[in-house]
Amino acid sequence: MTAVPERVGVLGGGRMGGGIAHAFLLAGADVVVVDQPDALARAEAGIRTAIDRSVTKGTTAIARDELIAALTVSADRRDFADRNLVVEAVPEVPELKRAALSAVEDVLSAGAVLASNTSSLSIDELAAGLARPADFIGLHFFNPVPASALVEVVTGKLTADAVVGQAQGWVRALGKTAVTVSDSPGFASSRLGVAIALEAIRMLEEGVATAEDIDAAMVLGYRHATGPLRTTDVVGLDVRLGIAEHLHETLGDRFAPPALLRRMVAEGRLGRKTGSGFFDWPEQ
Ligand code: NAI
Repeated sequence: MTAVPERVGVLGGGRMGGGIAHAFLLAGADVVVVDQPDALARAEAGIRTAIDRSVTKGTTAIARDELIAALTVSADRRDFADRNLVVEAVPEVPELKRAALSAVEDVLSAGAVLASNTSSLSIDELAAGLARPADFIGLHFFNPVPASALVEVVTGKLTADAVVGQAQGWVRALGKTAVTVSDSPGFASSRLGVAIALEAIRMLEEGVATAEDIDAAMVLGYRHATGPLRTTDVVGLDVRLGIAEHLHETLGDRFAPPALLRRMVAEGRLGRKTGSGFFDWPEQ
């Protein structure tokens, strides 16, 4: 079985980058996280807290001291020079990602794989600015990383087959399942998840059934862990509206956002984070 790469880099130690770093550390990799100088302390504290939690819960066989010793947090991307894999997890802003990926590629040695954790941008468009697009791939982790069993492996037109195979093996070595998707809007997960959610919102809009009953139909009828409307509340109605607008532009009218979704976002009913969405979310 493939192991994770010995030396991994993560660009951007925020919510996702921190989680990705933690996952590779627990799988035995040496990990360098590069972020902006003012974000280093927060990134390091977040990953250390996650390590402590894993040690306390007994979900790792590696000693705490070893895990801490295998983590370096730095503001200097040249620390990626000896990495076998670097995963980019900076904010979802195309120009920012393109500049960051190209700057990282400049310091990587030949044969190293560069990956992006983008949740919606085209891998082919991100690859356009790279000198070695064959070594570039999408590795779409889910939030929160430790609790999610899925990673979408997104292949660009120019991604080398060997890199796809390596990436699939690394995902397995993290104890997760790889779903391999050709670069396309929404990949597999957002496209399907948003399609079901938009139809559920249209059904609510048309008075077909209550939010509770629409969700129960999927939970009890199809064994979904959570219904589409509750899931939309958890993800955030604004986030889902943004994805729906992108899919509407790229894939056509079947992804046109329903008026009810737009109205709720305009009213600030964004789901769990605002206490109100399709359901009420009293503060815990
Ligand atoms: P975040 O805002 O929590 O973290 C971004 C990090 O990047 C911050 O630590 C920031 O200081 C750092 N950063 C910004 N510019 C940088 C630069 N030039 N060089 C180095 N570091 C830089 O964002 P989050 O949520 O972790 O998202 C990151 C990526 O992951 C995005 O592409 C997002 O679409 C994707 N994603 C997010 C999910 C989520 O639920 N939050 C789920 C799956 C993917």
